[in-house]
Amino acid sequence: MAIFHRKALADDLAARLLAVPTTSASGSGLFLAAPRRTGKSTFLREDLRPALQRHGAVVIYADLWADRTADPGDVIVAAIREVLARRDGFVARLARSSGLDTLTVGGLSFALDKVGLAQGISLSSALAALSDDTEAMTVLIIDEAQHAITSESGQNALFALKAARDELNSSAHHGLRIVATGSNRDKLAMLRNSKDQAFFGAPLVNFPALSRDYIAWFTAQLPFRQELDVEQVYQCFAEAAFRPEILGGAIDALVFDLDVQPGQYAARLQALVQQQVQASNDEALRVVHSLTPLQSAVLRVLAQAGAGYAPFETLTLARYRATLAAIAPDAKVEPEISNVQQALSALQDKALVWKAARGVYALEDSFLAELMRQAGMLEA
Ligand SMILES: Nc1ncnc2c1ncn2[C@@H]1O[C@H](COP(=O)(O)OP(=O)(O)OP(=O)(O)O)[C@@H](O)[C@H]1O
Ligand SMILES: [Mg+2]
Repeated sequence: MAIFHRKALADDLAARLLAVPTTSASGSGLFLAAPRRTGKSTFLREDLRPALQRHGAVVIYADLWADRTADPGDVIVAAIREVLARRDGFVARLARSSGLDTLTVGGLSFALDKVGLAQGISLSSALAALSDDTEAMTVLIIDEAQHAITSESGQNALFALKAARDELNSSAHHGLRIVATGSNRDKLAMLRNSKDQAFFGAPLVNFPALSRDYIAWFTAQLPFRQELDVEQVYQCFAEAAFRPEILGGAIDALVFDLDVQPGQYAARLQALVQQQVQASNDEALRVVHSLTPLQSAVLRVLAQAGAGYAPFETLTLARYRATLAAIAPDAKVEPEISNVQQALSALQDKALVWKAARGVYALEDSFLAELMRQAGMLEA
């Protein structure tokens, strides 16, 4: 399916981002938050990146989720290296100015290897050199930024970026802006609430869902477009929580619905969207139903507690016990620190739970708490 471009939104964001004064830390970073599957990455890649480039910025894009096994710190470093490598002669100039050319017997790529964390050339000096070379604003886009705080090296990359930001935003260079996205506000908040983090105080903005314009564009491509009006389709899209794939799935089913009569398309579409939403919710809960009693109890207590979850406190252990007594009275398992730890790491492996490097836990997808509540798995 083709992409609906959101050029006006991208230009607006780009202009704002590049125009903010660099006097404050918050002026140089921006967080965009929106629920899962609503078009964040598509917008960053297809619209925001080109808009920033049109405005004269050099854009570096790092998707911390593209490869879930890769270390977030490495991904950020690799994205920066890639942009450095693309500039003709830049690596040679950088190596020379850093006094590393005597070391580059293996050629230029050897010098590039030296750019990174705790390596020959710091991220900060590499980005500063890029800034001088391009004489343009540098914008670093980090998709799914919350993953940076799940590893030691990811956190180090964030500290390095803070140094780079301060350096590039000084009068000696041409500025650095960092745009980060994520789907979970609790996790993004962890990135911006602590003073020692690169993003301290950066504004958290709700990234807007795809609009009626998108639905008008989408509807115009349908073979039975004369049967539907944009407002009806938009209502269905809203019921699908603004997820294009849910609406798309319902439309696919409608295309092959041989029974639907003229005049019934809108009602049928609505029913199909509800089915798709139900199927997607059931799928999410199926994993939960496959857990052991202790894993299930730990997940329920975590989902109930939200940001206040303290996994190993006495009170929390009592909650696991009470939950176990309610959901699996015959389980004969006594929650203790060691088996709770095991349960949490099993929940992480199943991508239900997320853990920051400093031991804070959260639901991987905050929407799951809502589903569990609807399914009666949490207390009211
Ligand atoms: N502007 C658009 N035009 C057409 N389809 C879109 C658009 N934006 C998103 N989609 C579709 O919606 C789906 C989700 O998009 P995308 O991956 O960008 O969302 P996301 O918010 O980054 O998701 P995740 O939470 O998984 O990172 C994809 O199938 C994508 O093709
Ligand atoms: Mg994404």
